[in-house]
Amino acid sequence: MTEPRKLYVRTYGCQMNVYDSERMAEALAPAGYVATDSPDDADMILLNTCHIREKAAEKVYSELGRFKPLKAARPDLKIGVAGCVAQAEGEEMMRRQPMVDLVIGPQSYHRLPALEAKLREGGRAVETEFPAEDKFDHLPQRPKATRGPTAFLTVQEGCDKFCAFCVVPYTRGAEVSRPAARVLSEARDLVARGVREVTLLGQNVNAYHGEGPEGGEWSLARLVRALAEVEGLERIRYTTSHPNDMDDDLIAAHGDCAKLMPYLHLPVQAGSDRILKRMNRKHTAESYIRLIERIRAARPDILISGDFIVGFPEETEEDFRATLDLVEAVNYGYAFSFKYSPRPGTPAAERAQVDPAEAQDRLERLQALLGRQQRAVQDAMVGREVSVLFEKPGRFPGQMAGKSEYLHAVHVEDPRAEAGSIGRVRVTESHPNSLSGVLVGD
Ligand code: SAH
Ligand code: SF4
Ligand code: F3S
Repeated sequence: MTEPRKLYVRTYGCQMNVYDSERMAEALAPAGYVATDSPDDADMILLNTCHIREKAAEKVYSELGRFKPLKAARPDLKIGVAGCVAQAEGEEMMRRQPMVDLVIGPQSYHRLPALEAKLREGGRAVETEFPAEDKFDHLPQRPKATRGPTAFLTVQEGCDKFCAFCVVPYTRGAEVSRPAARVLSEARDLVARGVREVTLLGQNVNAYHGEGPEGGEWSLARLVRALAEVEGLERIRYTTSHPNDMDDDLIAAHGDCAKLMPYLHLPVQAGSDRILKRMNRKHTAESYIRLIERIRAARPDILISGDFIVGFPEETEEDFRATLDLVEAVNYGYAFSFKYSPRPGTPAAERAQVDPAEAQDRLERLQALLGRQQRAVQDAMVGREVSVLFEKPGRFPGQMAGKSEYLHAVHVEDPRAEAGSIGRVRVTESHPNSLSGVLVGD
């Protein structure tokens, strides 16, 4: 037996990159690679990158710089860049970074074993085509190792929406949905390995329209209902959704499908109709608020989370106040907010930019409001009973930690709480980033 080769993967960006990194490691396993958690003894380093904001892309170049001495000491070490920066920069990255052996875009991961063999022969490779074939068809089946109680499962990839600020339609390509039968079999396989909760992933997951097992097309709602029939799978989540793709059946599923968790990430980006139009979001603040009302009518306790961009080109103080008004109207349980970052090749990058100090000030005001809402929503859990899927020991001895149906981190001190089990917990205290409580049953 030869020594196993060591693979170090670092993942940036969204949950889909986390999923893709797992699949890449599996794709390289037949070539003798095992995972290592340090770059120092790796035979191959893969950076799975994100291009969504400037800072995310910069991190990749500075990280590559830190690997330079490793590569100088061990010229056999192979360095690969995958993900959205790889897709966006491709050839240019190869030119700028002679130490990089491989640049591979998200649609080409099924080519990884062949490209790795090419690197072993001393070559370099760039692969950033959008092939007609589905990469998931060609990625090897997961080995049957047991795993933790939660998992991501990509069902849809790419985006046809072209919001004026966003690189995703360029880096991930057009919307593609995986056939329902394949998603169902992957879910069953995950359950057999110990998974009890899956989060269905897609850049526009609620636009899912995969081929049904008996022909025709399945919507996300149909897929969720079929997954709810999978024995042993207890919880289903999905992310990220676009407001315009929330159809009636999906809203209804939140009311009648017990395994669909009461948490919905539904980004709106801004509250001013003028800015929403310039962002090419194709909805208004009012239509978004009405939509939230309909979702809450189906599932009154649902926790809504969102994404916001401040300082989008031409955003005025008045526009920004409309964002604050929308936040007040919705009452978010969780939120991510960002300063607009001009991305090369996107329409908004060419427009008049907002003064950076002004954008920073707006970000701070928005985050203060969102932070207050988030805290109040979390604090309101105290005294309530929630269901917790326990995942791993908590920070202190004797603690077991997991997530409630609303995605709050919850910990208890109780030997009956085992990883992978679901228990009823009465919440007793709210901490800055978590809740604690006592187990009252299962
Ligand atoms: N597909 C999802 C999320 C895409 S990226 C959706 O449709 O909403 C995640 C978040 O990053 C976006 O929701 C947006 O808030 C933020 N984002 C995207 N491009 C950005 C940019 N150029 N500058 C700042 N934030 C951006
Ligand atoms: Fe980007 Fe989401 Fe808009 Fe698609 S819908 S362009 S992924 S922000
Ligand atoms: Fe980033 Fe690409 Fe995801 S740009 S957010 S890694 S789709």
